[in-house]
Parts: sequence; structure tokens; C-alpha cells
Amino acid sequence: MPTAKESKDISRRNFMKVAMGGAGLVTANEILRPDLLASTGKSVNTTMIGVPFAARERVRLGIIGVGGRGTSLLQDLLAIENVEVKAICDLLAEKVARAQKAVTDAGQPQPRGFSKGEWDFKNLTQLELDIVYIATPWDWHVPMAVSAMKNGKHAAVEVPACTTLQECWDLVDTSEATRKHCVILENCCYGSNEMMVLGMVRDGLFGEITHGEAAYLHDLRSILTSSEGEGLWRRSPHMKRNGNLYPTHGLGPVAHYMDIHRGDRFDYMVSASSCEASLSAYVKAKFPEGDSKRSEKYICGDMNTSIIKTQKGRTILLQHDVVNPRPYSRLNSILGTKGAFADYPPRVFVDGPKQEDWQTVGAFRDKYEHPLWKTTGDLARKMGGHGGMDYIMNYRLMDCLKRGLVPDIDVYDAAAWSAPTPLSETSVAQTGAPQKFPDFTRGKWNVRSDSAPFALQT
Ligand SMILES: NC(=O)c1ccc[n+]([C@@H]2O[C@H](COP(=O)([O-])OP(=O)(O)OC[C@H]3O[C@@H](n4cnc5c(N)ncnc54)[C@H](O)[C@@H]3O)[C@@H](O)[C@H]2O)c1
Repeated sequence: MPTAKESKDISRRNFMKVAMGGAGLVTANEILRPDLLASTGKSVNTTMIGVPFAARERVRLGIIGVGGRGTSLLQDLLAIENVEVKAICDLLAEKVARAQKAVTDAGQPQPRGFSKGEWDFKNLTQLELDIVYIATPWDWHVPMAVSAMKNGKHAAVEVPACTTLQECWDLVDTSEATRKHCVILENCCYGSNEMMVLGMVRDGLFGEITHGEAAYLHDLRSILTSSEGEGLWRRSPHMKRNGNLYPTHGLGPVAHYMDIHRGDRFDYMVSASSCEASLSAYVKAKFPEGDSKRSEKYICGDMNTSIIKTQKGRTILLQHDVVNPRPYSRLNSILGTKGAFADYPPRVFVDGPKQEDWQTVGAFRDKYEHPLWKTTGDLARKMGGHGGMDYIMNYRLMDCLKRGLVPDIDVYDAAAWSAPTPLSETSVAQTGAPQKFPDFTRGKWNVRSDSAPFALQT
């Protein structure tokens, strides 16, 4: 949902892509954005890879969207030292009031509230804040993150960060032009197992990595058809798009294992969807004749399966299924020349003369548990959000802001991990034809000297 000005920016860039790409002088990625240049005075297309936050004693924070997810993020943030929640925005005044009360109950002054319509978030982004958290429906992520960055704030966006390739580029362009980070809040990268497996990969336990498996397999049928919360908006994409609607929970951790944007990058993907059956069957079984849901037509196949090939020749199996009855899994597997990790349940195989079966991950915990989980794990588990990974993510992001560190996850990750939605959709529509990933890093996926999100800087 771009504003009139943002639509003008987009159509101007599309025009320049055609005009300049045809002349063979520059690629689409190299086009300058004078509109952004004028407002910042900085050169566009200067990378945000490896750019540290400015250190600060306190983090002043605003949150847009305090539904299910925003409320949970707020609870974590209120438990972190020297984080001041200064502003809250939601369409619904009662949700803003509830969040304001949570802040005052935690002993902080009442934050400013914004609930005067869909675009009131623009007033929040003009306050004196360091970072804006965005936990709204998917279509709103990009206008909100762009508004935050253009007003001089870092943006922390819920998953997926964006849903079209144009939106991916809008985030990258704006982050580079404004010199503000746009972080995707991919909590699964901060899971205890995921951070431990990253340590194992870095230590060479699995040898040279060749293949990974990532997924979001979660029976969301009752949530999708609820008359509140995500039921109000999350079913709609199932009527409009056929592909992987929610790629980042599985893909983020595997991208870290494979050093994506730290020596490798996603090159292309192919995708196919099964037929649709489960959501429509559920709706027919659960809702009586006459319920408007029964006339909805879902086009998203129940199971979408993609294969991503990386520049270095590795493969990633990527799946999406939120409608079939089955236990939860993100697959979360990684395979190399010396061994493998597979999740659900978590298990490790290391090649050797005596090794014939999986070992439980527990046998490796002493050596490989991440220091953040060692020091903060008990509190994180007590806070609860997704087994503690939410608190670790929020704690770590606030710590990076306070200490002036490079964020673990940047706008290039946000764009590349979210891009499988439009790329799978196109591939499915073209009977599985390969789709190239844009190089959101503009050729800099191989230059980073710190090959380690959250490992080297702790
Ligand atoms: N990382 C995770 O584990 C996780 C878990 C759940 C949801 N999410 C993500 O979080 C986001 C929010 O999901 P949710 O479950 O909280 O949904 P929700 O429907 O419970 O909450 C969304 C909130 O956004 C508000 N909103 C909508 N449009 C707005 C606007 N223009 N201005 C201000 N507020 C607006 C709504 O009123 C609502 O309160 C989604 O992107 C979702 O994918 C992530």
C-alpha cells in the first residue's frame, strides 16, 4: 500500500529500469534514487553490510501493531534494561490503551498513543525514537518500515518483511539511502538449537556444507478461519497467491548455516504446489451453510515445495504448509561431508567408524550451546515466547543498539529470505520454471570479513 509519493518513486524507477537497462550502461540495481539522495544528502547504493549501530545508553522505541505478536514482543522489550517504550500505534484504541497500561505497569512513563486510522503510524515515525518495531499484517510492513527509515529510525519488521520483489527493493534502497538498518525479526534464528547448530557448522563438525532443509509446517486452520486476530487478514493471501507465503522461519536459520551474504547467496529457485484441498474441506466441515467463508475460493496449494540453489552449488529444500493436520516442523536440517543435523526431534550424526545412528543433540550441548543461551537462557525460557527464542532475539537486538554493534540480520537478509514468496509464486505459475534471486547486496555477498552473525561479536 504505497502512498502517492511512494507510487511515484516506484513508477519513476520502473521507467529508469527500462530506459537505462536497454542502453546497457547500468543494471537495474545501479540506478540512483535522486529523490532519496535529496532528502539524505548521502549516496544511494552504499552498502549497509557491516555497518554498526551508533552506540547509545538507552533505546527509545515505538511499536506499530499490538495484536497477538506486538503484545508478546512488548512484554519481552519491557523486561530488558534501558529500553524505553515511547510510543504505541494500532488501529484499535483499546489495544493501544492495553499496551500503554503494560508499559506503565512496568514502571515506565505512559507512551504516546496513535490510533487515528490506517496512516496514523506516520505520526509515530516522526517522534524522537531510535527504532520502530512493526508487527502488523504483511501488506503494511513495507510502508511502515520505509516511513520509519525516512524519518531517521531503524526499522525492525516482523516476518515476512515484504511480499513482492518491488517491496524487497524498496526496503534495500531505503535502508541504503537513509543509512538506517531494516532488521527482520526472524526469531527462529535465535532458537537454542539453531544457535547451537550454527556453532557446530562453524566448528566444521559437519564438514563442507552441501544441503539444507527448511520449512514452515504448521496447522493454522483454526487461526486462519478465526473471527479475530490473524483470521481477519491472513486467509486472504490464500485466495490470491499460490506459492510459499511464509518462507523465513525455516529459511533464516539455514541461510545462517550456509553463510548466505557472508560468502554465498541464493542463486535461483524452482517451485511446485500441490492441489488445494485442506483449507476448503476444513471450512466446509466447521462453518454452517450461509457462512461467507464457504463461498471463498482458495488457490494456494496445501503443500508448496521449492528447491533453492546457491551460488556455491548447495541446495535447500524449502516447504510451506499451514493447512494440513500434522505436527509442527520447520525441518531445520543441514548436511555436509562429515555429518548432519536434523530437527524434530533434534539429532546429530557425525561420520566415523563407530557411528551408525543419530545421537541426541543433548550430547553436544555442553560444547556448543551459544553463550547467549548459557547466560540468558533461564530468563528467556521464563519469558516464554516460542521457548525463549523471542526474548533472546529482542535482548540481542537491544544489546547491539546499545553497544553499537553490527546487527546480526540486515536488510539484505530481510529481502532475500522474504523473496521466495514472489519467486515461488512465479515458478508455480510457470510449471516450475527456475526463478533467479535478485542480488540484493549488489555484488557484495562475498565481501564481509565477519562471517558470523551473533557469534564473533558476543
Ligand atoms: N515471528 C513470529 O513468531 C510471529 C508470530 C506471529 C505473528 N508474526 C507476524 O507478526 C505480524 C502480526 O501478526 P499478529 O499475529 O500480531 O496479527 P494480529 O492480527 O493479531 O495483529 C496485527 C495488529 O496490527 C494492527 N494493524 C493493522 N493495520 C494497522 C495499521 N495500518 N496501523 C496500525 N495498526 C494496524 C491490527 O489492529 C492488529 O492489532 C505478522 O507479520 C505476522 O506474520 C510473527
